[in-house]
Amino acid sequence: MTARHILTAPAWPYANGPRHIGHVSGFAVPSDVFSRYHRMAGDRVLMVSGTDEHGTPITVAADAEGVSPREIADRNNRIIVGDLQSLGLSYDLFTRTTTVNHARVSQEIFLGLLKNGYVFPQTTLGAISPSTGRTLPDRYIEGTCPICGYDGARGDQCDNCGNQLDPTDLINPVSRINGETPRFVESEHYFLDLPAFSRSLGDWLATRKSWRPNVLNFATNLLEDLKPRSYTRDIDWGVPVPLDGWRDRPDKRIYVWFDAVVGYLSASIEWARRSGDPDAWRQWWQTPDSDAYYFMGKDNIVFHAEIWPAQLQGYDGEGDKGGSPGSLGRLNLPTEVVASEFLTMEGRKFSSSRQVVIYVRDFLARYDADALRYFIAAAGPESQDTDFTWAEFLRRNNDELVAGWGNLVNRTVSMAAKNVGAVPTPGELTDADRALLRATSSAFAPIGEQLGRNRQKAAAAEAMRVVGEANKYLSDQAPWKLKEDPARRDTVLHTALQAVSDCNALLTPFLPHSAQKVHELLGGTGVWSPAPRIEEVTDLDDGSPYPVITGDYGDAQAVWASRPLPSGTPLAPPTPVFRKLDESIVAEELARLEEGQE
Ligand code: MF3
Ligand code: ZN
Repeated sequence: MTARHILTAPAWPYANGPRHIGHVSGFAVPSDVFSRYHRMAGDRVLMVSGTDEHGTPITVAADAEGVSPREIADRNNRIIVGDLQSLGLSYDLFTRTTTVNHARVSQEIFLGLLKNGYVFPQTTLGAISPSTGRTLPDRYIEGTCPICGYDGARGDQCDNCGNQLDPTDLINPVSRINGETPRFVESEHYFLDLPAFSRSLGDWLATRKSWRPNVLNFATNLLEDLKPRSYTRDIDWGVPVPLDGWRDRPDKRIYVWFDAVVGYLSASIEWARRSGDPDAWRQWWQTPDSDAYYFMGKDNIVFHAEIWPAQLQGYDGEGDKGGSPGSLGRLNLPTEVVASEFLTMEGRKFSSSRQVVIYVRDFLARYDADALRYFIAAAGPESQDTDFTWAEFLRRNNDELVAGWGNLVNRTVSMAAKNVGAVPTPGELTDADRALLRATSSAFAPIGEQLGRNRQKAAAAEAMRVVGEANKYLSDQAPWKLKEDPARRDTVLHTALQAVSDCNALLTPFLPHSAQKVHELLGGTGVWSPAPRIEEVTDLDDGSPYPVITGDYGDAQAVWASRPLPSGTPLAPPTPVFRKLDESIVAEELARLEEGQE
């Protein structure tokens, strides 16, 4: 099989605050499991993202604290970078949208669309505060959604039904700052001509047969009501509009979503520039045999299955108005928009303001990254809304990771270490031995197939079923009773160790930190499953320095195949790979949650 080029594009977390486990269950863990699997399978993965730092989410947070948007963005970028690195997310580059490179690439996409006629100017009604005379950004306006009737819809989007809105659509609009009714005055803007893409988007979606049905249906339904969408906003924090008379205006910027989605491209370009081969990004964006998978929660579908593809088609000149690609050249559309459903917490919607929340940082201060990764992959909201409960987290950790997988590793390695001090040499195999080895080695193909299609729950369950078979084999063969027959004991232990090695490879995409430990317990040296690292870098184009996540993932040893474990490799008595959690943590965590609400 030849190596594929795979772009992994996890959604860009807002830098308006730290991220909670609901966020990372959508964009983060699934995208990393996917990338790690593909790298093990020999594919050339490029995984890029960053913090989403423009727009009203940041200015609202800044105003609330009385600091600058830059200060909010800098602080949360650093927190988010730390959290995502701790989770072991193997970004080739995790950057931010406030780089000079990102502004340039966003402006290039805008200009390409303008050149092809897909962006046009229009005067619209913008909101201002009657008491101060200042423009009131869309997100500061709240009212009733005209589509679903939800009371707390904002001027840019309804969080209840997910539809994009304009402030003038809202019924009974009020300012979130002081409750007054905004006044609407004329304001000049640029619009993306979405109706010009209804045919090209429809043709494209019609070929996307393998998407999750919910995502494809949602995306297809959006095509029924395509309206021009404002590309610029009345706001002072964002990417300047690259036109004479606009560039220097402090009150006009590109709409945050229209710059953020360009991040996948700008981050790929930044990665290539940093790698020393400035054109390297083209292998993921411009060759017909590369694939791009975008990961997110379902509230992001509009922007990844409609807006960004329309921006790309318009830039390429493939909407109804035709045209030709801009200076970057023709750009690939997403292969798949992999959207997950929502995670709730103990039956409630996550809400930072109402303190129904556990931040990644707090989670990782008390529990291991792999335990969270495992819960999300094995029991997360892959294709239906799912509740996180501490009781279920405890059960998955204790029953599956500790008593299932950890126990298999521990029993096997400790018996071999004690009796032989090394990976034993096997004698002739029995049917039972061969059956187990067949079960573990033949699991790579079906589990790999599931991981390639992002059926991570099924893949995790199948890997754990194989672990169960190995545990059963060990109980049946009872090597601890074979003191009188060391040759047979060694054969059983060798077989079990080989099964552990196979299972460890199968579980590596989910559990990279423990997989590295198991690799070492099996006598392995060097890097098995690579960890990302944080690097402080200077902006490539004279902006401010910032931290990025990056890593060397190419020469890791983990491969998606059964590899024979060499007899004679020295083994030391194992230390536990997973931590058993005490039942009391459930009550403690629930109490913490209640305290937060008071
Ligand atoms: N910041 C958005 C969120 O957290 C996601 C942006 S994805 C991007 O929901 F592609 F637009 F960057
Ligand atoms: Zn609504």
